[in-house]
Amino acid sequence: MASEDIDSTVPSVSAFVQSLSDAETLEALPPVADPVNRAPLNPPQRIQQKFVGSSYQAAYSEAERFVDRAFASWAEGDIQTQRVLDFGSGWGRITRMLLRRLRADQIWSSDVDSEMTVLLHSTLPGVNAVTNSPWPPSVFRDETFDAVTAFSVFSHLSEEAHRQWAAEFARVTHPGSKVFITVLEDDFLATVAGAQAAVAAGETAPFTVNLAQVVPDALASHAAAQRGEFVYAGGGADDDGPRKRSFYSWAVAPRSWVETVWGEAGFTVMEWVKTGELFDQAMVVLQRRAPEPAAAAPGLLHRGARKIGRGLSKLRRRTGV
Ligand SMILES: C[S@@+](CC[C@H](N)C(=O)[O-])C[C@H]1O[C@@H](n2cnc3c(N)ncnc32)[C@H](O)[C@@H]1O
Repeated sequence: MASEDIDSTVPSVSAFVQSLSDAETLEALPPVADPVNRAPLNPPQRIQQKFVGSSYQAAYSEAERFVDRAFASWAEGDIQTQRVLDFGSGWGRITRMLLRRLRADQIWSSDVDSEMTVLLHSTLPGVNAVTNSPWPPSVFRDETFDAVTAFSVFSHLSEEAHRQWAAEFARVTHPGSKVFITVLEDDFLATVAGAQAAVAAGETAPFTVNLAQVVPDALASHAAAQRGEFVYAGGGADDDGPRKRSFYSWAVAPRSWVETVWGEAGFTVMEWVKTGELFDQAMVVLQRRAPEPAAAAPGLLHRGARKIGRGLSKLRRRTGV
């Protein structure tokens, strides 16, 4: 066979295939994240600071207090087979703390910000990091998770977003699952009232000026929160990338409101750790209840009662009583 004939049977290689083939080759498989034995790379300090208001030791210590407290009330069952969702995972400090007790393949870290998903894939490889839509439903199957953590997420979600994610958490957990969230209490609005008073007296520090803008009248909002009302404080600020002000800003969720809303969603508040005891938000431990047994439908009851009535009449006619 002529050499030209052989060449014509070789499929041509596209430029894309060629570029993939020419890329560098790994010598070994990348290791799965294991922070206990190998501390992962930290994200840039400005990212740490922007997402959680602190960085390095202060940020990790807060995360450690939260996760240690969560494990003091953790879901029952074999820890080796549990699945855990870290919702609103940000740059992954809570996920790192979960990796102290769980394998990477047991953890799903989910955030509305795809840049955070990429950051987790590169710094915590092996963790199931996904990007979720701002509103439910999520991609997870019913009853997937034994536990859910959400540090400093519900302290920002609007009332409607909070309600919808509480209902979604009920769908993706099972009876007995535990959910650990943090919320802001009314004292946050007292701090805002203090900032408003300071600005009125001439204070110009950017932090104080920003804080003073979150609600128009902090004293009125504080009184509303003390009456048990949800207060969403989005004043002044613009959307922050995927964090739209329509669902993400500052939010105060009083205890009675949380008990009602999460109660309706199918959870019981097991513990309420007040603001200041662990960090500057309250920590709420929730447990998913078993669904209530369905009440008999009124139609069925009526039909049942009519049948019994007819039976009694027949008996009376027969016995003459
Ligand atoms: C204050 S940060 C806390 C991050 C992390 N939980 C921590 O404590 O380090 C809030 C996070 O919630 C995310 N987030 C906001 N709205 C969300 C939503 N609807 N669904 C999922 N994540 C959301 C933000 O992108 C951000 O990463």
